[in-house]
This record gives sequence, structure tokens and C-alpha cells, in this order.
Amino acid sequence: MNTQPVYQARGITKKYGNVVALDNVDFQVSAGEVVGLVGDNGAGKSTLVKVLSGAHKPDAGELLLDGERVEWDSPHDALEGGIETLYQDSSLAPDLTVSANLYLGRELLAPGFWGKLGFLANKRMDEAARLELEKVGIAVPSSSRSVAKLSGGQRQAVGIGRAVAWANKVIILDEPTNHLGARQSAEVLEVIKQAREKGLAVIFISHTLPHVLEVTDRIVVMRLGRIAADAPTSTFTPDSLVKSITGLDQLAG
Ligand SMILES: Nc1ncnc2c1ncn2[C@@H]1O[C@H](COP(=O)(O)OP(=O)(O)OP(=O)(O)O)[C@@H](O)[C@H]1O
Ligand SMILES: [Mg+2]
Repeated sequence: MNTQPVYQARGITKKYGNVVALDNVDFQVSAGEVVGLVGDNGAGKSTLVKVLSGAHKPDAGELLLDGERVEWDSPHDALEGGIETLYQDSSLAPDLTVSANLYLGRELLAPGFWGKLGFLANKRMDEAARLELEKVGIAVPSSSRSVAKLSGGQRQAVGIGRAVAWANKVIILDEPTNHLGARQSAEVLEVIKQAREKGLAVIFISHTLPHVLEVTDRIVVMRLGRIAADAPTSTFTPDSLVKSITGLDQLAG
């Protein structure tokens, strides 16, 4: 069995001015594994996501993809490396259609004359977008509808669909079930399980601990910019997980 992590962060430190958001953090995820990343508000989860996705450069530490050291100068670099991210503050363009959002930055160009002029193949894109979203079990009213006219949950679904459709190694979902109703949340958890089946490495950030306990293989707990716990999901109970997040486990000892 190949146990080399597909993506690994070693000794990552990231400061915002005087705030140490990440303090010597080690983190890793393997192919076909879902890792839950949890912690109180301000623990450093989104900052770690931004380092992993190439949005922020760490002040110290290194990233290894398939065991090779990588350095991202932009989120685009990480995308090309096979790492897809759904940011907490979702990055969809509200004035564009669903399909344009799905293909943002990688628009299909119509072949031949029109392609040379750089026109987008809208029809093809709409159809392909519908198929991609269908494949991951995400239903939106119409892929040619502008994202501004979707509900918050539908918009979220498009962002998740985009990430799953394009990822070929790692998918990072920062609070993907936020603003979602029970049924839509269940669908997102299904999509996560499918991504694992496809052999992707999945990082799932959430404050909804029952979701984390349901869908993950391993849970990493962050507290004040550090890793407080990193263990198989089966070793946590709802109670012990809360204690680990709040730091009450330290007092009990
Ligand atoms: N752009 C920024 N500038 C300055 N400080 C920041 C910035 N982003 C985050 N921080 C600080 O870094 C720390 C970690 O924040 P981060 O957003 O990573 O937390 P989080 O675990 O994602 O929290 P939440 O659960 O609320 O999303 C916090 O103290 C936060 O105030
Ligand atoms: Mg966050």
C-alpha cells in the first residue's frame, strides 16, 4: 500500500503583522482520504487553506506534493498542480452564468474561425457544465442562469461542483455546508464521499461536528494556530472532539 501523503505541509508558520495565525504547523493528506480540519473561530483553518491553495505564501515551512517540494506563486499554480479549493468566502462571479463560473479561467474556445477570434463556445460550455454538475449529483435550475439569481445554497453547490470536476489530486472545502439546509448538506457529504471514491485527497473544514464525524477518516484539530490533535475519526467521540477543540482536554489531564 502506498502510504506517502499526496500533499504535505511541514513546519508552516504564517503571521499577519503581530498575529501568528499558523505556528509551525504539520499537516498531510493521502489519496482516497478525507481529513476533517476543525477548530474554533480564528484557530487558523482558513489561513492553512490559503497556504495550501497558493493564496498565501508561508513565512516558514515547506509544501510537498507527491513527495516533491513545491512553491506556489499564485492560486493558479496550485490549480495546475491538481489542487482545487472552495474558499470560505466563495469565489464565484455573481454576474456570470453557472457554466461560465464552472469554466472560469479555462473557458472552452470554439474551434476554427470563431475560436481564433476568442469567442467562447457558450452552448458547449452550458451543456458540459450541466453534465459535470450532474456527474457529482448537483442539481441547479439551469447552467445558463446567472449565479446572482441562484439561492445561497445553489451557489455553494456550483462552487463545490467546480472543485470536484477539476481536482485531480486534492480538494479543499472550507465550510462547504455553511448556509445549506439539511438535504443540501447531505448532498454535499455525498459529493465528498464520491470524491474519496475517485481517489482524491479531501480536506473538509466545518464547525458542524456531526458532519465531520460522519464523513472523515481522520480529524485534525487546530487551536490558536497550532495542531492540537491529529487522529483517526474512530478515536473521537462527539464529547472528546469538543473538548479537544476548546482545550478542555488539557485541563482534564
Ligand atoms: N487577512 C488577515 N489579516 C489579519 N489577520 C488575519 C487575516 N486573516 C485571518 N487573520 C487572523 O488570523 C487568525 C486565524 O484566522 P483564520 O481565518 O485562519 O481562522 P479560522 O480557523 O478559519 O476561523 P473561522 O472558523 O472563524 O473561519 C485569526 O486571529 C484572524 O483574526
Ligand atoms: Mg475560516
